[in-house]
Amino acid sequence: MITLNINNKMVNLDVSEDMPLLWVLRDIIGLTGAKYGCGTGECAACTVHLDGKPVRSCILPVGNIGEKSIITIEGLGNDPIAQKILDGWVEKQPTQCGYCQPGQIMAAIALLHENEKPSKEEINIALSGHICRCGMYQRIRSAIKVAIGSTEDE
Ligand code: FES
Ligand code: FES
Repeated sequence: MITLNINNKMVNLDVSEDMPLLWVLRDIIGLTGAKYGCGTGECAACTVHLDGKPVRSCILPVGNIGEKSIITIEGLGNDPIAQKILDGWVEKQPTQCGYCQPGQIMAAIALLHENEKPSKEEINIALSGHICRCGMYQRIRSAIKVAIGSTEDE
């Protein structure tokens, strides 16, 4: 039996220690916000927060998590930084198919928790590796700039 702290609730799971977290989230407890893209750590569609840091849940075995806090996009609650990012998303509408968006949003929120006014370069670094097959990269960065009140050129 493994116990995980998911969205501020302790969850007991009868699963193998090497099961990736994404499988637990999506298939066992029904939190489908984090997406399955590549399954090999290369697209970031499965990003969640582990003690506030963005991690790729498809390559994170649940046996390696211990007591760390897992937050998924369903568990953002009233986090004011998350709300700023979501407001930026609403204003700039950087979504087409939407598949990459939960991962992009979770990465952006983690970035702002570390650095409330990231530069263009810092945003690019934080979102590097987040693949968007619809090519919404520029609009996603514009949404983050709205969230931080930046007037820096694209
Ligand atoms: S599904 Fe996890 S990185 Fe692609
Ligand atoms: S909006 Fe379609 S993959 Fe990014």
